[in-house]
Amino acid sequence: MGNAQNGSVISLQNVEKIYKTKAGPLKVLKGVNLEIKEGEFVAIVGPSGSGKSTLINMITGIDRPTSGEVFVAGQRLTNLSENQVAKWRGRNVGVVFQFFQLLPTLTVLENVMMPLHYTNTFRGKRKERAMELLEMVDLPDVAHKYPSQISGGQQQRAAIARALANNPKVLVGDEPTGNLDAVSAGLVFAMFEDLVAQGTTIVMVTHDRDLAGQIPRVEEVRDGQLVAQEEIDRRLVAGRD
Ligand SMILES: Nc1ncnc2c1ncn2[C@@H]1O[C@H](COP(=O)(O)OP(=O)(O)OP(=O)(O)O)[C@@H](O)[C@H]1O
Ligand SMILES: [Mg+2]
Repeated sequence: MGNAQNGSVISLQNVEKIYKTKAGPLKVLKGVNLEIKEGEFVAIVGPSGSGKSTLINMITGIDRPTSGEVFVAGQRLTNLSENQVAKWRGRNVGVVFQFFQLLPTLTVLENVMMPLHYTNTFRGKRKERAMELLEMVDLPDVAHKYPSQISGGQQQRAAIARALANNPKVLVGDEPTGNLDAVSAGLVFAMFEDLVAQGTTIVMVTHDRDLAGQIPRVEEVRDGQLVAQEEIDRRLVAGRD
């Protein structure tokens, strides 16, 4: 399943993003083309400020391009209103950030139940589904705690459970392991590998070269453009960074 045009589950076509700043327009994405097939696991790497977060915000619809087209899971995003995108995202894409962004006034269980309000999951089933998810990320014991009462690694696993609540085809992470110790990062990464094995498509930004090295496909952003794959390969062979 993808968009009918080319069989990709994620398709960015000549995407440009220009931010208005006090100093004038700032072109952050300079014509990005990216095709990702269902079930791929893709790392996005590149220097700070190169446009990685901007790029993945195009995929989640959190932000929209100045020009170009974005298709995700069969949906053209560029012609949807902000409201429509938010609804679509809640049903189709899981998003995980570096700072876990759980709602502090809700328990872990309530946080995981949140996305189920977007769907027609029967009210009585929501708690059951959320508990299942918490079991999957090995957190059933902290279901009734508040985010501030659990560790960073536990918060991130709860955030992943929340991101998976609606069985999204596509999971997007912006440095999801960036704020975790090595053990927690390893747990989260293992969880991602399981999800990919089950057919989920994952795109994650990471600064961690070792982690990126374990991800089958690596895309590098440099100054608002994707570096050609041949260039990445050439540098790998040459042993340079
Ligand atoms: N809303 C915005 N308004 C103006 N400029 C922005 C905005 N968001 C990002 N930028 C600028 O766009 C450029 C790319 O930012 P982006 O956050 O995509 O980089 P990044 O590769 O994710 O960096 P990092 O690795 O530090 O997270 C930066 O120069 C940033 O300052
Ligand atoms: Mg970023």
